[in-house]
Amino acid sequence: MAARDKLVGTFKTLQGGLFSTVTKADVGTALNDLIKNGCALMCWADPFFPDHVIPSHVENAAVRSLQEGMGPHYTMPIGDAELKTLIAAKLSKTHGITINPERNLVVTPGSDSGLLFAMMPFIGAGDEVLIHAPSYPSNFLNPGLLGGIAVPVPTRPENNYQIEIDEYRKRLTKNTKMVLLTQPNNPTTTVQRKERLEELAKFVVENDLILVVDYAFEDIVYDGIEMYDISRFEGMWERTLSVYSISKGMALSGLRVGYVVADDKLMDVLFACAVNVIGATNTSAQQAAIAAFRDYAFISDYKAIFDKRRRKVFDCFNSIPGVSMSLPESSYLSWVDISRLGTAAEVSQYILKNANVFVNEGTPYGLGGEGHLRIVHGCYRSEDVVDQALDRIKTALTRLAAEKGIR
Ligand SMILES: Cc1ncc(COP(=O)(O)O)c(C=O)c1O
Repeated sequence: MAARDKLVGTFKTLQGGLFSTVTKADVGTALNDLIKNGCALMCWADPFFPDHVIPSHVENAAVRSLQEGMGPHYTMPIGDAELKTLIAAKLSKTHGITINPERNLVVTPGSDSGLLFAMMPFIGAGDEVLIHAPSYPSNFLNPGLLGGIAVPVPTRPENNYQIEIDEYRKRLTKNTKMVLLTQPNNPTTTVQRKERLEELAKFVVENDLILVVDYAFEDIVYDGIEMYDISRFEGMWERTLSVYSISKGMALSGLRVGYVVADDKLMDVLFACAVNVIGATNTSAQQAAIAAFRDYAFISDYKAIFDKRRRKVFDCFNSIPGVSMSLPESSYLSWVDISRLGTAAEVSQYILKNANVFVNEGTPYGLGGEGHLRIVHGCYRSEDVVDQALDRIKTALTRLAAEKGIR
């Protein structure tokens, strides 16, 4: 008995560990209560949520695959061959890269699992991953799941959250193994410019690191800002794992389809563990994704909707005393500076109570997140619902500003 008491990791000693304070997974129950009370949800980075929006050719493909196709069966663990060929054709157009779809691509159940999958074989105990902050919370948690350490690298609003290579250099240690880049970034919407990417590429090559790029929002970039593919810089293709999603630009989050692209050497490792970790991505979802990649003109329609909305939120928030935001460079997210009105927790609670709108505090996005709110203006299909929610936030925050003597 005495010997067993010393065991670590038995049921008696279990705690929530890394996830003891993370509430993302069970947030649904809380949201349902808010919905019942007529609360507008501007907190879920799920385009048009909760409205029914899907192109008919995509919907039909999913239904057909269940009714008369291979829907009830597995695909290969690495993904459907036709889907991979279509993805490769899109990447050649949008990223200027030529890949072999049979060798350089694996389909994953969404990009959240793709991001962990891409990191998993390469990060172990004590390995450090440099991640610019503020950024997507899951990316800070993933290294810890593998026994590694996430090392936040600050970016600054006055610099439009562009990465600064000296900040990476300062944090480089003998344990640094990987850099993670979210391009475009959630929550700041920043698109890293080609010059910054080139500096990062040199840093990665010089220090013999691996790079993981999270491209979840890549389809929704405005004003012709270039989305240069960092794997095109010399020495980078062989050390870059690029992770993509159909959740955001295609607004097909519920299908849970993502994909990882990498050179043969890295991909061999991923192929080797695909069957253990992924099994296979949902077959009907892959059939629907095939339809989406065959004809993805609908992405431009969605982008036009979000483009109009970003201008609307920009005008709205900048007209509130003590509140400011930059025009989003990408996505359907607003990164709003409310620091003059209170902490992120105080102001988000004030909005919930006084405007009946649920928004995200900036703090979970890491360094630099305090004093900010992330507001998902890409929710709902109805412009009226969004307009009314924005009006209510504006009225509430204008009152809060007046109470604080800010005009
Ligand atoms: C930056 C970023 N990456 C990845 C994901 C994961 O998306 P999915 O798993 O739906 O592909 C999200 C979801 O919000 C995200 O914001």
